[in-house]
Amino acid sequence: MKKFSLILLATVLLSPLPMNAAQASTETVHPPKQSWSFDGPFGTFDREAMQRGLKVYREVCAACHSLKRVAFRNLTDLGYSEDQVKTIAAEYSLTDGPDEEGEMFERAALPSDYFPSPYANDNAAKSANNNALPPDLSLITKARHDGPNYVYAILTGYEDAPSDMDLLDGQYYNEYMPGHVIAMPPPLSDDMVAYEDESLQIREQYARDVVQFLHWAAEPNLEARKHTGVKVLLFLFAFALIFYGIKKRTWADLH
Ligand code: HEC
Repeated sequence: MKKFSLILLATVLLSPLPMNAAQASTETVHPPKQSWSFDGPFGTFDREAMQRGLKVYREVCAACHSLKRVAFRNLTDLGYSEDQVKTIAAEYSLTDGPDEEGEMFERAALPSDYFPSPYANDNAAKSANNNALPPDLSLITKARHDGPNYVYAILTGYEDAPSDMDLLDGQYYNEYMPGHVIAMPPPLSDDMVAYEDESLQIREQYARDVVQFLHWAAEPNLEARKHTGVKVLLFLFAFALIFYGIKKRTWADLH
């Protein structure tokens, strides 16, 4: 039995992997690690970057991607006042109803509303995008492994396809998309969004800012969670010191 197991083990370890050919086409390139203000135990969101990121989302991504779980009122987290939030919401209109006559009607959005979606439903979204569904972005940085680095890498990872690869209409080559084929046209290019501050208006900066915004959307409680973690650690550390003192006193007579 033992011999049999050994032979089996050796066969498994030594056999060339038959998957290689198939893997090559769907192989995933790991996104390079960027440094983010929200990394680490003391991480916080960068309000100015989030405000710029919101602008990028509104002016670029919102043409195709919904953000269904984010309500306008939560934008106060980005450092906006309640009045500013009201103004932002009022720039959107949405369908509400039915009214007393049973009719649906259009009205300006209120702070309590959520970002309206660009398409009426998934089928409409697909038919406008070559049959690919642009995913809702509310949780995207949590839904993908290593989300913030991954989303940044996707946004900046478009390249010419290798010569041995045929792309269909509406397909693009992206280094970081699993399988390297993505149905999203390169969404960002230099100078496409006008910033009100001095930040660079280049693709990489837009990508960084929109990731900062989307990571807040996916995890609005990140700062509170990290603060609690640090407090708990401090508490445990203080507690350990006290107990160490008590232990020393208790046993002092025995030395
Ligand atoms: C012209 C429409 C369009 C615009 C504009 C657009 N996207 Fe997309 N996006 C798509 C489509 C379609 C897909 C689905 C791609 C696929 O499945 O191959 C997608 C997929 C994605 C994905 C998911 C990739 C994955 O892992 O499945 C992310 C992340 C993303 N978009 C982010 C963004 C961000 C951020 C912006 C704004 C800077 C943006 N997109 C702008 C159409 C768009």
